[in-house]
Amino acid sequence: MKITVFGTGYVGLVTGACLADVGHNVVCVDIDQAKIDKLKQGLIPIFEPGIEDVVKRCVSEGTLNFTTSAAEGVAHGTVQFIAVGTPPDEDGAADLQYVVAVAKTIGQHMTDYKVVVDKSTVPVGTAEKVQAAIAGELANRGEAIDFDVCSNPEFLKEGSALEDFTKGARIIVGTDSERVQEVMQECYAPYMRNHNKLMFMDVRAAEFTKYAANAMLATKISFMNEMSQMAERLSVDIEHVREGIGSDPRIGYHFIYPGCGYGGSCFPKDVKALARTAQDIGYNPELLLAVENVNERQKSVLFDKVNKAFDGDLKGKTIAVWGLSFKPNTDDMREAPSRNLMESLWAAGAKVRAYDPEAMEETHRIYGDRDDLAFCEHRNEAVAGADALVICTEWKAFRTLDFDWLKQQLKFSVVVDGRNLYNPEDAKAAGFLYYAVGRGD
Ligand code: UGA
Repeated sequence: MKITVFGTGYVGLVTGACLADVGHNVVCVDIDQAKIDKLKQGLIPIFEPGIEDVVKRCVSEGTLNFTTSAAEGVAHGTVQFIAVGTPPDEDGAADLQYVVAVAKTIGQHMTDYKVVVDKSTVPVGTAEKVQAAIAGELANRGEAIDFDVCSNPEFLKEGSALEDFTKGARIIVGTDSERVQEVMQECYAPYMRNHNKLMFMDVRAAEFTKYAANAMLATKISFMNEMSQMAERLSVDIEHVREGIGSDPRIGYHFIYPGCGYGGSCFPKDVKALARTAQDIGYNPELLLAVENVNERQKSVLFDKVNKAFDGDLKGKTIAVWGLSFKPNTDDMREAPSRNLMESLWAAGAKVRAYDPEAMEETHRIYGDRDDLAFCEHRNEAVAGADALVICTEWKAFRTLDFDWLKQQLKFSVVVDGRNLYNPEDAKAAGFLYYAVGRGD
């Protein structure tokens, strides 16, 4: 099947690579010439486990091609995925200018039937705008070519995107057209050898499902973070509570890990955009606003705890920070809790010795060279001579910690663990002041 994907960002590249990997003939289009040149050589602009191999293999097999030519892209695929960015505008709503621009391009160049698929996360009603943009261009050209627009939101997690694409729980397609259903069935057939994962619904329901899913997951996290705050004040270990409630299948173990707040490009943006939509339609989204507020508050817990450990005097102190990305297996620093921590530490006159397995370059890109930030090449280098250690991200490399060894490295025996990685008893036995999240400290 011939498929075109507009946008070679995170979602577009994963979509294009995975569809090419099962034998579809895919062309990915992007306006960024430098990016396309690199991709043609198998150089990947994002960090995502496994994607490099897939792209290289598909490019060499000829199932995956990259171009900056929109005309070429439109001519190629019967299916045209729109997977460009929808950044938040000033009031939190999703900015649709890139999505609409691609729709117009499709309308300008198409010569035969197309199924246009909204893959980007877009508010309810966007498919109608895409439909109108294409129809407008066709009318300008005086052409009457048949096309359909459907919604096919993605549920990819950074760090496990390939697996999520190929083995995801469901594939949602919003359409009222049987023709589209048949085309999308053919597109996704390679992933349904075991059972049918395609769920068809109307377009607006599909668009809304994406936001509702992310908002639900963000709500679970904020709920647990709120419970962790209470647990601390009640001398309760939240980890017991997590296990206790997670064992109820109605609640489940997923997304109930308390921590230092959710980050990344999706939850913060999507919860805000959904709240914005609610306000636009005259509904007060009390729960969504609370989810967001709890998250904002939670992002300050790391700083508050380290500040407390040093009695509010961090001037001249050096803090080792392990984990900078918003979660493991990515170099993404968007809305990462580590940023709140480092910026608060600097404001309080402290220095940072930072280490992350993948996000060092990204950290440098964001903060540049500065006297109060040391870029360390190993977790051990970060703690050497520091006053205290703070863990922001639960990378595998941080899962074990020899507290006796750590004691020799740090000037003060202080650990702030933003991901509840260690046994508080081990830390205490080694004489550490150990602050975790919601563990009765
Ligand atoms: C999220 C969703 O999980 C995907 O299903 C969705 O497709 C994606 O957004 C998107 O809209 O594109 P992602 O942002 O990559 O994926 O990462 P998650 O693994 O969901 O983690 C988000 C944040 O929540 C991280 O900061 C993580 O540390 C935090 N989190 C997650 C917790 O604090 N506790 C948990 O129990 C789980």
